[in-house]
Amino acid sequence: MPDLIRIPAMLDPHVHLRGMEWSHKGTFASETAAALAGGYWAVLDMPNTPPPTVDPPALERKLAVLGAEAVCDWGVYFGASQDGNTAHYPAVAERVCGLKMYNNATTGSLLIADQGAREMHFRAWPRGRLIAVHAEGETVADILALVRRYRTPTHFCHISTADEIALLAAAKSDGLPVTVGVTPHHLFLTDEDVRTLGALGRMKPELKTRADQDALWDGIARGVVDVVESDHAPHTLDEKRAPEPPSGVPGLETTLPLLLTAAREGRLPPERVIELVALHPRKIFGLRAPDDTYTLVDLADRYEIRRENLHTLCGWSPFEGWMVQGRVREVWIRGRRVFDGERVLAAPGSGRNLFGAGESFV
Ligand code: NCD
Ligand code: ZN
Ligand code: ZN
Repeated sequence: MPDLIRIPAMLDPHVHLRGMEWSHKGTFASETAAALAGGYWAVLDMPNTPPPTVDPPALERKLAVLGAEAVCDWGVYFGASQDGNTAHYPAVAERVCGLKMYNNATTGSLLIADQGAREMHFRAWPRGRLIAVHAEGETVADILALVRRYRTPTHFCHISTADEIALLAAAKSDGLPVTVGVTPHHLFLTDEDVRTLGALGRMKPELKTRADQDALWDGIARGVVDVVESDHAPHTLDEKRAPEPPSGVPGLETTLPLLLTAAREGRLPPERVIELVALHPRKIFGLRAPDDTYTLVDLADRYEIRRENLHTLCGWSPFEGWMVQGRVREVWIRGRRVFDGERVLAAPGSGRNLFGAGESFV
């Protein structure tokens, strides 16, 4: 392989950009800048914000602020609400990348714990449109039962255990329309790292054992795992140092270099990295790469991950101090250079909504 490679239109389908009431953690401007610095063309933003993206006014507000600030392309998820917001589904479905359903407790107020309520959301979400689920442990089987009944294309976010991989491998061989995402932190860290990382190693799902981690890598090799998603979830260092720290870690700027380093070490073929961060996520969300949209990466550049080089507002990484090889040199979107290896060159608001075809409510 040459030192300089070109990766077409990278998409991270799982980020928490924060913004609005959580702008102290990250703004749409700062976190889409982090996306470009990480090599991404586009990101899909999760609905567990205050206000949660579960009704048309909250969606409209997020679309407006994100539209004004974003420097990369983007889409947003609508959230399934425990208060029952299914009446909005037909009107919003065209304007979002999918429905996100939280089935276990995590950051934010969204949680559907009751199986009957989960079924109500599966039944109401327009046919053929994607649902992304946060499901851990036995909840994976509960959701699979709904996929079996409704045949909804369902993306399982941040899968982290050997048991979950086994369930999803079986579901795939049964022909269910499921896809699987894993995160870089579950691929590169284990529960042993929590001892040194403390709260900086706290996220949902929690870090797991070495055997679980091996199952994720094996899932990549066997094609059970479709995408690597960063689950970029910035919290401030002050919040992480508090007695009850929130769950979540940033990841947009470290995912690609970590995967390329693993490829260099022979843990996966370089072509597989490109599938996991660009080809498969685009396919799952039905997105075509725009013309002249790509990332140039220097595979010879070896460097240390340091907080002062990060664009994310939170300013830390669980991978600080790690040596990686493979540096994002340039990002191009629709024939314009938007990142030069250090600085963002795109104007605020130049990023496009990839799901913006639907009518506005206002
Ligand atoms: C995420 C967050 O902080 O928004 N936290 C996390 O630990 N991953 C929510 C989530 O993805 O579950
Ligand atoms: Zn989650
Ligand atoms: Zn998440």
